[in-house]
Amino acid sequence: MDRDNIYSLVDKFVDDVLNVKNIDIKEPKIIVSPPGPNSRRIIKRDEKINSKGSFSRLLPISIESGYKEFVIDVDGNIYRDHFSGATAANLGYGLNEFTKSIIIQLIKQSITIQHTPYMYLSNPFATRLAEKLLEISPEGFDKVSFSVSGSVSNDYAIKMVRKYTKRKGLITFENAFHGNSFGAASVSGFNLLSKEMGNIGNIFRAPFPVDDETAKNSIEKIKKIISRKKIGGMFIEAIQADSGILIPPEWFFKELREICDKSNVLIIDDEVQTGLGRTGKWFAIEHFDIIPDIITIGKGLSGGFVPISAIITRQDIADSTQKPQLITTFLGHPIGSVVALEVIQVIEKLLPSIRKNGEFIDNLQKRFIKKFKMIRDVRGIGYLRRIEIQPQYGPLTIFRSLEKGELFGLFGIKNEVIRDAPPFIMSKESIIQGYKKLEEVFMEIENNLIPESTINKVKKYFKGML
Ligand SMILES: Cc1ncc(COP(=O)(O)O)c(C=O)c1O
Repeated sequence: MDRDNIYSLVDKFVDDVLNVKNIDIKEPKIIVSPPGPNSRRIIKRDEKINSKGSFSRLLPISIESGYKEFVIDVDGNIYRDHFSGATAANLGYGLNEFTKSIIIQLIKQSITIQHTPYMYLSNPFATRLAEKLLEISPEGFDKVSFSVSGSVSNDYAIKMVRKYTKRKGLITFENAFHGNSFGAASVSGFNLLSKEMGNIGNIFRAPFPVDDETAKNSIEKIKKIISRKKIGGMFIEAIQADSGILIPPEWFFKELREICDKSNVLIIDDEVQTGLGRTGKWFAIEHFDIIPDIITIGKGLSGGFVPISAIITRQDIADSTQKPQLITTFLGHPIGSVVALEVIQVIEKLLPSIRKNGEFIDNLQKRFIKKFKMIRDVRGIGYLRRIEIQPQYGPLTIFRSLEKGELFGLFGIKNEVIRDAPPFIMSKESIIQGYKKLEEVFMEIENNLIPESTINKVKKYFKGML
């Protein structure tokens, strides 16, 4: 049998599976109040065997499967997902109409060749992906390096900056999150590295702007640092994500670009979370009308199927590094590459609905702020939205939402931001249903209607946060 015949069998097989109607899920369903006994058992086993530093658990459930914008835990509870697997599973779960073409490519590639190391031997799949990434990147970008996680991409970006500018200093924003490998953790604002671990050094911090006044202060601080230290690069998130989805004023990045240009400081735009369609554009920085020097991506690049990431930049910057300085075994992974190529095509079709539904969510959220005293701020672009509440209600809000079948993230420096980052495939109708449930939660909190049993579980499961 030749390859085409085998491939048509794969097409048929995937079609047959997709046609099994009983896997269709249209709404959340809670069978046993979370966390159910199976989740509790697995989490207990995790705690016994995992290093403490290797998790930062959000909710006490164990996820086993999913379908479209729903995830299912080991007790059979179905939740509507507003979390997208930490903004990576952007096309939802299981075999659905959006993931079908990706799964077909994944199976075909898996039965052809699973792995060949692109750093030593070329493969056409990674080559095609690099070309595609340059097609969707801003003007002037002409080089791609691959890696395996957002963190490592940021580490590679640091190497590029240091090599290209011959300056070691880096500026980063307070409370930024760029990952957990050594370089990325060093330029992050959270306490990811203890004193004993140290960091890569020469890191300087400025506040992330949220309005005109904080933006002016931030600009002054950055100017001062650049005038006194040997700075090679400035790390940015166009929208600061994990600290609570902070959006700077429109003018800020343009002024930052001018300052950096004057001193030949490179701008590294970390789009690991905000990139590849999350804000309705390929990159969040496009909303601010500047072109950075380096862009790092990861997470959603393969729709959560395979861990892959990339660094996109200009030739002069990329070529300043020498041959083995940006390599790792799985870079340019063939399965990851064909999956990502397909993911990009699916996202391309979804960009208009992300923008349109994003505006719709905007209006839903604005209604909340008028209705509930506990809500301080609502904001967002596309499918990346924040609902800032009084911090003491953070754990209660996400846990009570979970009990009603809605899985939200909790972020911000004081756990005060409910993060709504749904898979791009979530329909307007599903968004409305999710927000109805969230509204019920706010109503219950403000009217002291939360059941005692829920409050007790929150006390038990969010001990460190309360
Ligand atoms: C903005 C940003 N950069 C980098 C990273 C790190 O990516 P990874 O966890 O794939 O290493 C993250 C992860 O949350 C992120 O949000």
